[in-house]
Amino acid sequence: MKSLMLFWVLMLFLNCKFMQCSVSYDRKALLIDGQRRILMSGSIHYPRSTPDMWEDLIMKAKNGGLDAIDTYVFWNVHEPSPGNYNFEGRYDIVKFLKIIQKAGLYAHLRIGPYVCAEWNFGGFPVWLKYVPGISFRTDNEPFKREMQRFTEKIVNLLKSHNLFESQGGPIILAQVENEYGRLRMRLGREGNNYMTWAAKMVTSLQTGVPWTMCKDGDTPDPLINTCNGFYCDNFTPNKGYKPKLWTEAWSGWFTEFGGPNHQRPVQDLAFSVARFIQTGGSFVNYYMYHGGTNFGRTAGGPFITTSYDYDAPLDEYGLIRQPKYGHLKELHKAIKLCESALVSADPIVTQLGDRQQAHVFIPEQGGCSAFLSNYDTESGAKVLFNNRHYSLPPWSISILPDCKNVVFNTAKVGEQTSHMEMVPTSTKILPWESYNEDVSALDYGSTITALGLLEQINMTRDTTDYLWYKTSVDINPSESFFHGGDRPTLIVESTGHAVHVFVNGQLIGSSFGGRKNRRFTFSKTVNLQPGANKIALLSIAVGLPNVGGHFESWNTGILGPVVLHGLDQGKLDLSWERWTYQVGLKGESMNLASPNGISTVEWMDSKIAVQDQQPLMWHKAYFDAPEGKEPLALDMQSMGKGQVWINGESIGRYWTTYASGECKGCGYTGRFAPPKCQVGCGKPSQRWYHVPRSWLKPTRNLIVLFEETGGNPTKIALMKRTTNTICAQVSETHRTIKSFQIESYDSTQEFYIPKIHLHCAFNQYISSIAFASFGTPFGTCGSFVKSSCHASTSNAVLEKRCIGKQSCAVTVTNSNFGKDPCPNVLKRLSVQAICASTKSTATTTTTNQTTIHY
Ligand code: GAL
Repeated sequence: MKSLMLFWVLMLFLNCKFMQCSVSYDRKALLIDGQRRILMSGSIHYPRSTPDMWEDLIMKAKNGGLDAIDTYVFWNVHEPSPGNYNFEGRYDIVKFLKIIQKAGLYAHLRIGPYVCAEWNFGGFPVWLKYVPGISFRTDNEPFKREMQRFTEKIVNLLKSHNLFESQGGPIILAQVENEYGRLRMRLGREGNNYMTWAAKMVTSLQTGVPWTMCKDGDTPDPLINTCNGFYCDNFTPNKGYKPKLWTEAWSGWFTEFGGPNHQRPVQDLAFSVARFIQTGGSFVNYYMYHGGTNFGRTAGGPFITTSYDYDAPLDEYGLIRQPKYGHLKELHKAIKLCESALVSADPIVTQLGDRQQAHVFIPEQGGCSAFLSNYDTESGAKVLFNNRHYSLPPWSISILPDCKNVVFNTAKVGEQTSHMEMVPTSTKILPWESYNEDVSALDYGSTITALGLLEQINMTRDTTDYLWYKTSVDINPSESFFHGGDRPTLIVESTGHAVHVFVNGQLIGSSFGGRKNRRFTFSKTVNLQPGANKIALLSIAVGLPNVGGHFESWNTGILGPVVLHGLDQGKLDLSWERWTYQVGLKGESMNLASPNGISTVEWMDSKIAVQDQQPLMWHKAYFDAPEGKEPLALDMQSMGKGQVWINGESIGRYWTTYASGECKGCGYTGRFAPPKCQVGCGKPSQRWYHVPRSWLKPTRNLIVLFEETGGNPTKIALMKRTTNTICAQVSETHRTIKSFQIESYDSTQEFYIPKIHLHCAFNQYISSIAFASFGTPFGTCGSFVKSSCHASTSNAVLEKRCIGKQSCAVTVTNSNFGKDPCPNVLKRLSVQAICASTKSTATTTTTNQTTIHY
């Protein structure tokens, strides 16, 4: 064992000599330029935002206390057809990495090229499915050849820009494959061979930085196996000489159409990170730090929403989500204060109570840092540590960089809460005009006719979501249902993901699969006419699945049977009839979504289409860009299901489907899982669709949508996202409890002073103080109430310091509020403030007893 370890250390060293490599690892941490580091990282996927947003996102990540940005590399956007590469616009990975470098941050590049990520087909290009003899993610020559080719392409591209740390660039770590463990177990020897090959292949690329592989217990050396999950404190790497890295600390969860949104309380997220660090972890990557948007048809699934907000510290639009962002920032500061002790010593664990522990790091060179934890989900605990008393809220960890003073407790959120709102803009979207796909004349473009039902992706190669299956059935006028008997039933079995069924040009119904269970059955009684009847099935792929192995065998579309039940002969199986196939929509073939394509058809006033709720309609209109800098979104609640484009750029798929499930609210204590903290039940899974500002011109922006079922486009509104209400609550310091009281740390001073910090978004100012009370107020943001202990100067003090400012800080001490409103009671300051985009510098406010003029 020892000799093996020496071998790898030597290998790394030799490699480094050769490559001037400056990243290596040992059992404690990654070493950069020979220094062990505790690194905080966050996932920001470059195609999920626009290039003009990147710098802001990365700077916010830096200000949030991150050292590194993590991104997957998305093969299918870079190589849309074999050998044709795209590294432009949202896919300009070099630019993204250079911005990271400019910000002074590191990068973890998860090349995969299988990425999962709720991304179409897990990141694989669909053409890969048609490489002869291919079998995905296993010991298969055609697959390995393609995987190696793409991995080399990326590595060489980035090397040519000197982007690896060994070349002076930001990339300190790279990942091959993704969460291979489960598949390896299923595949056995083939899986092992594949992984051994993958490890050798990437090591031979001479990047000079270590490679990782997540969720795979048998990762071959010198790759580091890492953990993904909501908690990773129990994880240990597969060899004693590898560091404990957490590549996906799930900050929230993704949303599916038909499901609610999931939120992860920041207290629990911070607790899980502190648990990981106290047990020797040295690298944490938040998945996601900014989730962003699945523009176009990039969402995986099926049925992953266009929004990939993820309840991340930066919201879908790139705005700071509080208190998540700020609380994690404080956590990172606290961890960094312990860095030298954490990287030099192993924790000494002592039991402080039944469910309470201390993890103490005492390096040889001196110093001491401690993490005091309380795993009890119900009760707070008072513990004795180093002859001092500390009080620990339930399910929390206090961090003591000097083993004496608490600078942070995971459950005590000192940061403000911000309420993000969607506010209508004054922009008018006009005039709405419509164009009908015209189901009865399905003869545009080329059609294919075959006996039997064909698989959808074979037909479309995923160039479109849509495939028409059309057939005709002759019905004898003597059938008894024409003479008073029961009408027949049409049954359509689909392997996914959705279908709209038309009989003789009329939409008779639709059916949908789910993300987990894609297969579904459409069943409905039909009105047939004597003689020929046209049956047209519009089958829809709503994002290709992204999880699993053997992608080559995955099927989509109507594979049957398709049967008419209840005819005089019993059932009539149409599965082996002559079917005609049409790939995509007529509007797609005419490029109706683009400014160049719209003039190819006659549009009509939308009134009739809206009145009749006609299915399969294209709608278009124009609008001017609203002033200001706030992020924009379309309110699509009045629409059914389809896709929307602005100036030819695809905003994504929309679907006003309502979230089922239970949203009963949740506390932060206890183990988190996505169903625990759901919001938005009974509401549309997604109502707002991000419109990047950089896609707009000042005037006459073209909006086009394709609506599958009905809806009213005239009610679509352009909204702006702002943070209007912000709240904060901070307790005063009390001498007797100083050692365990959470306080904001002021690095310019030698001691901790409790201060309340309020910040409005960029270009916004505090316009009023809706509530302020220094005393013992009750309630939470939006519903604060004063108690009998209340300093009457509270509002006036806050107004004086904050009105007209973008941000302000107010010290939480008796002296700041005149006199002590209730001596010998620990008080707090609770504030609710309103942010607005116009700066007001003077105000007149009536507080309970005083009217103050400034
Ligand atoms: C992980 C996977 C990620 C992402 C995540 C869920 O298992 O590695 O790519 O899919 O789950 O958001």
